[in-house]
Amino acid sequence: MKPSKLVAEAKLPDGSLLSLREHDGHHTLRVDGELLMTTRATASETAMADSALAGPALGKARKILIGGLGFGYTLRRVLELSTPETKVVVAELIPQVVEWNRQHLQSLHGPLLDDPRVEVVLGDVRALLEREGRMAWDAILLDTDNGASAMVDRRNKQLYSDDGLKAVHKALKPGGRAVYWSATRDEEFQARLREVGFLVEASGVKAWADAKRASHTLYVADRKR
Ligand SMILES: C[S@@+](CC[C@H](N)C(=O)[O-])C[C@H]1O[C@@H](n2cnc3c(N)ncnc32)[C@H](O)[C@@H]1O
Repeated sequence: MKPSKLVAEAKLPDGSLLSLREHDGHHTLRVDGELLMTTRATASETAMADSALAGPALGKARKILIGGLGFGYTLRRVLELSTPETKVVVAELIPQVVEWNRQHLQSLHGPLLDDPRVEVVLGDVRALLEREGRMAWDAILLDTDNGASAMVDRRNKQLYSDDGLKAVHKALKPGGRAVYWSATRDEEFQARLREVGFLVEASGVKAWADAKRASHTLYVADRKR
């Protein structure tokens, strides 16, 4: 078996080590060895954009927020489904993720971040929600963590708390849609989304296109009109 190649690594402010590796044409992003993302399993990232924008919403969203750039699969699909007038803002916590997408990952999607519709903002997506205020977004896609019950980064606790859900609800335009990626099915999270006023549907999604089962869940949460 071919060994994997270290493409880049960086120490994060909390002392953990972020690494980008390549193996057999696929990339992985790890924090202290723990897998954050792999280009082998991207079907749910793409499905997230479909859930947010396909169907009746297709071509209607003018302002879209994506929480977490990762390897850019969600962003790519959002751009495919959007009009030339749409503005897509991507909030990314880790500057190296953005830098490495530009430097080392052009083979995945080309110069995605140079699309004139895209603005990349470094920092926590929560700050951006606050900055832009109420009724700012047609769609908000949050793939910042593994979900409320499988959280990896404790700094994201607030985002998935009741206050965090309310902030997302307020930030959406009436009729707007939020989609949360979740590693697991989480009835309690779904109930909390309902409690803050969303109309919610949960759908199982496959990690890769020919996977046998839908191992992840997308929570599609609509703000009532
Ligand atoms: C699983 S990846 C996202 C994958 C992405 N959907 C894709 O298509 O490749 C999660 C990303 O969210 C970022 N992240 C985590 N918490 C965040 C936060 N609070 N605000 C912004 N970005 C965050 C991580 O650094 C990572 O790049």
